[in-house]
Amino acid sequence: MPHVVFIAPLFLETTNRYVRGFAELEDVTVSVVSQDPAEAIPAELRPRITGHFRVTNCLDSAQLTHAVRAISVSIGRVDRLAGVLEQLQLPMAEVRDALGIEGLTTEIARNFRDKDRMKRVLRSHDVPVARSMLAHSRDDLAAFIDQVGFPVIVKPRAGLGSRATFRIETPDDLAALAPPDPETPIQVEEFVRAREHTCETITIRGTPVWRSGTRYFPSPLEVLETPWIQYSVLLPREDDDPTWTQFHSINGAALAALFGDRATTAAGTALTHMEWFLREDGSCLVNEVGARPPGVQIMPLMSLAHDLDMFASWARLMALDTFTPKPRTCAAGSAFFRGQGAGDRIVSVTGLDRAIEECGDALVEMRTPKVGQPRADGYEGEGFAIVKHATTDGTKRALRAVIENVQVRYG
Ligand SMILES: Nc1ncnc2c1ncn2[C@@H]1O[C@H](COP(=O)(O)OP(=O)(O)O)[C@@H](O)[C@H]1O
Ligand SMILES: [Mg+2]
Repeated sequence: MPHVVFIAPLFLETTNRYVRGFAELEDVTVSVVSQDPAEAIPAELRPRITGHFRVTNCLDSAQLTHAVRAISVSIGRVDRLAGVLEQLQLPMAEVRDALGIEGLTTEIARNFRDKDRMKRVLRSHDVPVARSMLAHSRDDLAAFIDQVGFPVIVKPRAGLGSRATFRIETPDDLAALAPPDPETPIQVEEFVRAREHTCETITIRGTPVWRSGTRYFPSPLEVLETPWIQYSVLLPREDDDPTWTQFHSINGAALAALFGDRATTAAGTALTHMEWFLREDGSCLVNEVGARPPGVQIMPLMSLAHDLDMFASWARLMALDTFTPKPRTCAAGSAFFRGQGAGDRIVSVTGLDRAIEECGDALVEMRTPKVGQPRADGYEGEGFAIVKHATTDGTKRALRAVIENVQVRYG
C-alpha cells in the first residue's frame, strides 16, 4: 500500500479539503506533518491518518526531513510527499532528495521557484517568454531598460502572490525603487500588454492528460495597483475555443522543459498552474508556472465546471498517479470582495441582497465580508463569491451582479 505524507502546516478550511482527499483514498496509508497539533485534524478524518508529526515550521527543510524520517521509522517507507503551498515546494524537494523519495527534486523545483531560472529554461527550449534579466545592481537595471525601454516590471526572484511586484514606467519610478544588490537581485522583465490567462494541467509522468483554463479580470498587477478593485476569475464553458487550445502546445513544451529529463518519473506527475499572456496580435507568452494546485478559488471552479472533486482528484493523482479526465459541463467564476476607503476595518457592507437576487440560481457560495472584520493584507480581499452557469455569458452576468452590487467600506 503506498504511503503518502501530506504537509499541512495549519488545519485551515482549504487545507482540510486536501486532507480529506487523502484520508478518503482507499488502499493508501496517509501521514501528516503539521505545525498544528494532531487534535486539530478534523475529528472525522483522524482515524484515517496513520502517522502524524508536529514541527514548529513546515518551511524549514531540516525540520521536515526529521519529521518525514521519523514517520518512515514508525509507520514505514514513505513513497510520496505532497503539499500545496508555493513556499513548500522547495523544502519538500530537499526532503525528497535527502531521503530518496520519488517526485519533484530540488533541481526541478528550482525551475519553478526561481523566476529567472524558469525563464532561462523556457527560452532555451524555444518557449515564448518576455525578455527578462536578474538584475544585481542599478547598472544592470539601467542596461536592461536601455535595451527594452519603459515600462518594465520588477519582482522578487522567488516571488508569489504578486508581492513586491511593480510596474516601472519612468526614470523617477526607477529612482524610487530600492536598488538590487548582489545578495538581493531583482527579476526585471519587459512589460507585456496582454490579457492574462491560466492553464491548469494534469500530467502523469510527463504526459498531459487534462487541461482547464481561466481568465483573470483584471490582471493581478492591476488588482494590486488598484486596492479597491473587486476582481474575478472566469472559467469558460467552451473547452475547445481556439483562444485556449492554441496555447496547449506551448503549455506542453513549457512543462516538458521545466520537468526536463525527470518528466517521465513521479516528478512529472502533477497538477500545474501556468499563467500566460495573450497579446493583441494573438501571440502567447508563458509568464510563470507553479508545480502545485492553483489559488484564487480555481480549484472549486474546476470542480464545478467538470462535476468532480478536484481536491480529492489531486490527492489521488499524487498518491496513485491516476486521474480520470471529465468533460466540462458548465462555466464557473469567482469574485473577490475588497473594501474601499481608508481605515483598518470594515464599517459597512451593502448590496448583498441585490447581488443574491440578480445572481439567482447561478450563486453557489458567498463568503460575505463582515462589519468589524480587519482589512485583509493579501489581494484576495475579505470575502468571495463562487458562481456557475450553463453558459459563459451567464457566468459573466452573475460575476458582474456580485461585483457591481456588493460594496465594502473601510473606516
Ligand atoms: N512581464 C510582465 N509584463 C506584464 N505584467 C507582468 C509581467 N510579469 C508579471 N506581471 C504582472 O504581475 C503579476 C505577478 O507576477 P508573477 O510573475 O505572476 O509573480 P507572482 O504571481 O509569483 O507574484 C502577474 O500576474 C501580472 O499581472
Ligand atoms: Mg503569478
